[in-house]
Amino acid sequence: MVKICCIGAGYVGGPTMAVIALKCPSVEVVVVDISVSRIAAWNSEQLPIYEPGLDDVVKHCRGKNLFFSTDVEKHVAEADIIFVSVNTPTKTRGLGAGKAADLTYWESAARMIADVSKSDKIVVEKSTVPVKTAEAIEKILTHNSKGIKYQILSNPEFLAEGTAIKDLLNPDRVLIGGRETPEGKKAIEALASVYGQWVPKDRILATNLWSAELSKLAANAFLAQRISSVNAMSALCEATGADVSQVAHSVGTDSRIGPKFLNASVGFGGSCFQKDILNLVYICECNGLPEVANYWKQVIQINDYQKSRFVNRVVSSMFNTVSGKKIAVLGFAFKKDTGDTRETPAIDVCKGLLGDNARLSIYDPQVNEDQIRRDLTLKKFDWDHPTHLQPMSPTSLNQVSVVWDAYEATKDAHGICILTEWDEFKTLDYERIFENMQKPAFVFDGRNIVNTDKLREIGFIVYSIGKPL
Ligand code: NAD
Ligand code: UGA
Repeated sequence: MVKICCIGAGYVGGPTMAVIALKCPSVEVVVVDISVSRIAAWNSEQLPIYEPGLDDVVKHCRGKNLFFSTDVEKHVAEADIIFVSVNTPTKTRGLGAGKAADLTYWESAARMIADVSKSDKIVVEKSTVPVKTAEAIEKILTHNSKGIKYQILSNPEFLAEGTAIKDLLNPDRVLIGGRETPEGKKAIEALASVYGQWVPKDRILATNLWSAELSKLAANAFLAQRISSVNAMSALCEATGADVSQVAHSVGTDSRIGPKFLNASVGFGGSCFQKDILNLVYICECNGLPEVANYWKQVIQINDYQKSRFVNRVVSSMFNTVSGKKIAVLGFAFKKDTGDTRETPAIDVCKGLLGDNARLSIYDPQVNEDQIRRDLTLKKFDWDHPTHLQPMSPTSLNQVSVVWDAYEATKDAHGICILTEWDEFKTLDYERIFENMQKPAFVFDGRNIVNTDKLREIGFIVYSIGKPL
């Protein structure tokens, strides 16, 4: 029986390994993590992450060929294939701070593999890493090898949160990069045969190591660039009377451009787009390519601009001040169908409104109060560095309340900001909400999900992204 061990039981390691276990009943999959609470949650009824379809897959395989454990060394020692899916955050101090990827977690995993291994291993980079990381990992492993042979593969993950299980079951492609030697090719084949249990052969792409590593950063940069492009257009639409949905539709019907990923929004969030583009920018700078670095930097700058533009619009529309006014924030997660708040645009919008002394009442169906308060007090990039987390001062954020109902959040509010596109926000009883709000009652739709005509009929003043007033 092939044994797989995955180091890192997070948003990628957990779902990816669950699907491998589901599709490869003859493979034993163990997911290990240093976080005792995370592993306990994976072994409980309340999984540590909310992801549609995940519960069923885990329930089906757990205890049969899928296991979650904190006994990291034992399972790494026993495995034939080791996936490394630890976090690779942005560095917050030292060389490259604010841009470069922090590979501390990766390096400690690699050193541990070298320490405990007693048989040959295939080590798979699942985390998103800077191009050439495999070379560094190879050095750590071979210089501590005690005669053991390692093959390093790059197998970046392309799943999106909220659709992780769907994406894993039916991926556009699986990318495997390896050394172009007979041993390297054999390792690629071994990993390809795991995915080959359910992914059609022509969707499993083999490349060299550096192409695979760089393709992941490139794919995220291209995706984020589309959003910044449509968001940049949204500003021009607001200035000219064009409608960004009509523009995006017209542009997207060109088959060379395509219709997906052109929704204007309050800005993109999530743990990866910003981190990976900053990482790409840093790599370009280190390779003496400042023009290329500046090109990609703009994608982040437009995203920051979009978030502050949204805040400015709220404040300026509400007679240039929100001081003491109650603003209902509907949605805090970075997108619908996830409880993940990493780099969510809601953090910057809430901080911006608090900066103008607003009172916030926040509701998200999947994010709890502790998480929201923590997010609003953390410094940029610190969320992915567990060792930097500072305890929050109990007196801070007394302008913020977190509630478990959209009607409670909007009661007596002067304005509503919709920051996540949860389906339930489309079907709220807006007449009831209007009745209970201060007048004039404002709606700022950061996701373009409400029926503006209907809301205006009720009496709301509605602002959407990139739409005429
Ligand atoms: P995560 O923070 O949810 O999970 C990482 C886990 O690794 C944590 O539970 C942490 O405790 C554990 N860990 C860290 N060091 C460890 C060690 N030495 N030994 C054992 N466990 C250790 O992160 P994630 O969202 O799953 O992302 C992981 C990687 O995958 C990142 O590089 C990310 O860029 C990439 N990625 C993420 C997504 C996504 O949707 N979240 C998608 C594609 C790629
Ligand atoms: C993204 C990529 O889509 C995945 O392929 C990749 O594997 C992953 O990053 C990663 O490397 O972590 P994810 O961040 O989970 O996945 O979610 P997306 O659906 O890409 O959304 C990212 C952000 O962009 C969200 O805030 C979303 O609301 C926003 N978005 C997306 C828009 O504003 N407009 C769009 O048209 C699409």
